[in-house]
Amino acid sequence: MLVHEDREYLLEPGAEFGTDLGVIEVPEDVAAGDTVETHLGTVFEVRELRGPDLFDHLERTGAPMMPRDIGLVLGLTGVSRGDRVLDAGTGTGILAAHLGRVDADVTSYEIDPEFAEVARENMRIAGVDDRVEVRTGDLTAHLDALAADDPLHVLTLDTGDAPAVVERAGALLVSGGYVAVYSPFVEGTREAVRAAREAGLVEIETRETIQREMDFSDRGSRPSTGGVGHTGYLVIARAP
Ligand SMILES: C[S@@+](CC[C@H](N)C(=O)[O-])C[C@H]1O[C@@H](n2cnc3c(N)ncnc32)[C@H](O)[C@@H]1O
Repeated sequence: MLVHEDREYLLEPGAEFGTDLGVIEVPEDVAAGDTVETHLGTVFEVRELRGPDLFDHLERTGAPMMPRDIGLVLGLTGVSRGDRVLDAGTGTGILAAHLGRVDADVTSYEIDPEFAEVARENMRIAGVDDRVEVRTGDLTAHLDALAADDPLHVLTLDTGDAPAVVERAGALLVSGGYVAVYSPFVEGTREAVRAAREAGLVEIETRETIQREMDFSDRGSRPSTGGVGHTGYLVIARAP
């Protein structure tokens, strides 16, 4: 990633890119820590791409999960190196990329073939394409085959039909494994909780994810008046 003051450009080695600060020619052997000068003399720093940069710069398809909600998924499931993780739908792949960045072994399903293509490219840019396999298809059509595979440590769902997958979660997860369902609406969340109960999952907890930013000014400090930062609901449950 190339950075100058508040400008950030995600450019590949060898790329040529025109800006009002001049044309950037990225050397083939570019590395983090280098600087690259435009033909008008503006200096850009080359930085390694980090997690939050993915949200800002990867090509978007399905509405990506926000970094704060990803933090909850990582923290509340304890996903870590070597875990087998099943994710759907891939969408932009922001959650899938973060799962790959903690070195989990991720299979992610995306029903839309064009979205899946973009997500594969996003995984390559994020540097996790060796750990995150994006499969094109409807996850609900593959549950029988997946239940016959090695059991999963974590199942992450961000689709309208997540409850149909939660109903089968017991057959997919190791004992103590986690399912995380993210939903923007109460109705989908309620259905996910019903499915988790019917599936015999335990430790079922639901949270609304709200965050307030703080404003600090000369007059004083207070939560931002920019509105309540609701993004969605997160159901976490565990296989017995
Ligand atoms: C909200 S987006 C997921 C965003 C993703 N979590 C991220 O962080 O970028 C939901 C995606 O799920 C896909 N989808 C919906 N139902 C699906 C299913 N049954 N199987 C696979 N993908 C599905 C949609 O096409 C869409 O791209």
